[in-house]
Amino acid sequence: MPTIIHLVLELLRSVHALWKDDTMVTLPEVLAEEIRKLKLQDTDLSEFKENDIAHWLQLIRERGYNLLGLCAAIEGPFCELLDSSSVSDAIIEDLGCMESRHVSKLIDLVIIPLMKYCPSKRLGEWILKLLPPLFIYCEDILCGAWFNLLNKGRAGYPYYFGYLRGSQRSAKKLEECLLLDLTRKVSKLLGVLASSKPIGALTCVDLQSVSTAKAASSRDSKRASSNSVIGYTLHNDCFGMLNMNLFGSWVDGEATRDAVPFCRALVQVAVATQNSKLRRFILHDMLPATIKRLCTDLPCAVQRTIKKLSCQLNSSKSQKASKDLWILCQEIYAVHIQNQFEDEFQRYLPTYIDILYEVDAMDCPEYGCSRSSTLLEKLRPEFRLKHGINSFRDRHMWTINDMIKRKLPAEYSKRRSRQMDKWLCKLISSKPYFKHSDERQSAMTWLMEDSPLDANLSELDVQDAVDIFYNTILFYLEPQFHPLIREGQKDFLIKVAHQFVFAEETNSCKPLEPESRDFPGHLQPYASSYIHTMKLQSKYFTAQEQFRRHQEFDRYLASGELDDDVYKFSSSQDKSVLQFVEKNNVKSRFGNLDDKLIKLSLEDRAQIVDTIRQVDIYSENLKNITADDKLKVCLQNLVHELKEEGFFNVDNDSIDWEKTCFVSLIDEFKELVFKGHGCPRYVAIQGIMEYWIISQRSDINGQVAFEKVIEGVCHTWKKNIAELWMDTRYYEESCYDLLRNPLKKILPK
Ligand SMILES: *[C@@H]1O[C@H](CO)[C@@H](O)[C@H](O)[C@H]1NC(C)=O
Ligand SMILES: *[C@@H]1O[C@H](CO)[C@@H](O)[C@H](O)[C@H]1NC(C)=O
Ligand SMILES: *[C@@H]1O[C@H](CO)[C@@H](O)[C@H](O)[C@H]1NC(C)=O
Ligand SMILES: *[C@@H]1O[C@H](CO)[C@@H](O)[C@H](O)[C@H]1NC(C)=O
Repeated sequence: MPTIIHLVLELLRSVHALWKDDTMVTLPEVLAEEIRKLKLQDTDLSEFKENDIAHWLQLIRERGYNLLGLCAAIEGPFCELLDSSSVSDAIIEDLGCMESRHVSKLIDLVIIPLMKYCPSKRLGEWILKLLPPLFIYCEDILCGAWFNLLNKGRAGYPYYFGYLRGSQRSAKKLEECLLLDLTRKVSKLLGVLASSKPIGALTCVDLQSVSTAKAASSRDSKRASSNSVIGYTLHNDCFGMLNMNLFGSWVDGEATRDAVPFCRALVQVAVATQNSKLRRFILHDMLPATIKRLCTDLPCAVQRTIKKLSCQLNSSKSQKASKDLWILCQEIYAVHIQNQFEDEFQRYLPTYIDILYEVDAMDCPEYGCSRSSTLLEKLRPEFRLKHGINSFRDRHMWTINDMIKRKLPAEYSKRRSRQMDKWLCKLISSKPYFKHSDERQSAMTWLMEDSPLDANLSELDVQDAVDIFYNTILFYLEPQFHPLIREGQKDFLIKVAHQFVFAEETNSCKPLEPESRDFPGHLQPYASSYIHTMKLQSKYFTAQEQFRRHQEFDRYLASGELDDDVYKFSSSQDKSVLQFVEKNNVKSRFGNLDDKLIKLSLEDRAQIVDTIRQVDIYSENLKNITADDKLKVCLQNLVHELKEEGFFNVDNDSIDWEKTCFVSLIDEFKELVFKGHGCPRYVAIQGIMEYWIISQRSDINGQVAFEKVIEGVCHTWKKNIAELWMDTRYYEESCYDLLRNPLKKILPK
């Protein structure tokens, strides 16, 4: 065997050398003629006559290649039979002047078996001997020819694809055929390289050029990919310049399927080694080429060429290749783009949070319709310094501007509520008291004089406050005016006004929150997912859900259906919601509504139930007056006395309402009518007013008419109390707090 191999290698070397132009000159004419003939031939051996020299040359090549390939496949040849230098001398030395059909054969019959069967500890040596010159040849032809075919419609390179005879048409076809063949063989070789076992420790190369903290964590995978055969070939510059035309730009399915594993390995090596040149190749060449191949309706050269060559391409292989390319595409995205954006997002996040907090803390009423230059001055100097914001054209300024626009309504609404609260408090408690029968304009004028309007709020807001005072507070809660009634329930009215105003605010405005649209477009998916996670973690969504459930629950309580149970709850010792919850299936009907919220609602509702019961007693006590003639006489005297003392001159400010005769007369009335029912004093006064007003009316005579009027008054009163409740729901509980001030909970600094 060694002798034969030696001879074959010598023969092959000599035959290859015949193709060199300078050899031709020194050859005997007869031989030179044969070579010329051979160069003009197609690949078909059958066209030669048996004892043509050309025929012999062709046979020597083919059989020599086969022999070498077979030799590689048997056991142990790399130690004893094959020697990389002599093989390389024989087959690589004159590669430059070989036609492509020879090179295709050489790759298929010799190089691939050698690469496939070479033991890994010698593979490095063989790679270095054979591959660099081979790839220089292949890259040169494939890149040029594919570029021409894709862009100019014709591969060209007539020397390598044969000096062809026949029509232009068949020549073109043959050219394409040979180009496809070479592409497939090269891709097959790349596939074989990609599937080789990593090269042993001896040839291990450390490709890690940059080492970062992140790199350390995945060192093992890095080592594996930099030890791979692909890593090795790249490190040793086996490829002159990687170019997608080396794989035929994915035009052919067979070549594509073979080359995809190689490209996937490149993707991994690029990550492992952080080789920027390779990374650029993947992102700027491989990814676009893959997308062009996968988007079949894209009007691009690749798709045009695929259609043009369709009869030479295998469609079932193309379909399988598409699947492989999808996987490649996803890997490129996951490894290079996603990670890169993810990193960028993580780097930007602290800046973003800083900006958000800066805007949140910013006091910005009067420059609401922000001129950017004023806005710039409002930023704290240390903030501007930290983020290098020097001009209102800075890219952060756009974000800041947008956040301010989002924050303004809530900010305005908050200020407005605070002011409304103050105004209402004044309207309720300022003496002489404003009452239902007054002109509203006077209340407005008084408010505006009392607290001059600043730029923040408008006259309309004053109007609103006055409207709330009259149409809500007085209308619902003060059916009768008397200074002493107002005095008695002043605190209650103020509390209701407060709740009304802030309940309105809670329902109307969205406070400043982080939003993914604050981020540059390519980071928005990351921002969106991050914000979502943070909202989940801070239980923001739970709070929203609780908010909704709580509203439903209150609406249900407001229907009055459960008032008996509410009463039981309020009169129970421990005020535990457990019994109520179980009896009324609250958990299943209101989706696990929090016990604390249930309790707050029950307490609120219990107060209303209690007030309504009081009104009922009040009503019955008043009605009972008519049944008792003796009592009627007493009361008439009593009311007469009060009138004499000016008790019903409710508009007279000079009257001292606390004077002793009033106090004793009121107590007397309370004792007579309400008989120890323990109603508040102002309710007794309301009874006096009611009684007096009714007794003034000439149309009301007799028991039935009296009772009807009282019933009507009390019915409206109860209805109003119940109705107002839903508009004054304002709770101070953690989930409400989270919704009112989400920023600090979602993105803690
Ligand atoms: C296409 O390739 C498949 C294998 O993937 C093969 O079975 C089939 O015969 C080929 N078709 C043509 C027309 O070459
Ligand atoms: C209006 O804005 C000024 C300046 O920020 C502030 O001092 C004032 O308290 C605001 N007035 C109201 C009613 O909120
Ligand atoms: C009203 O009078 C009736 C009959 O005298 C009596 O039974 C009832 O307890 C009285 N109502 C109140 C609230 O005192
Ligand atoms: C108001 O009350 C004072 C003191 O009781 C009394 O002197 C005065 O005449 C009253 N004014 C009117 C207009 O009734």
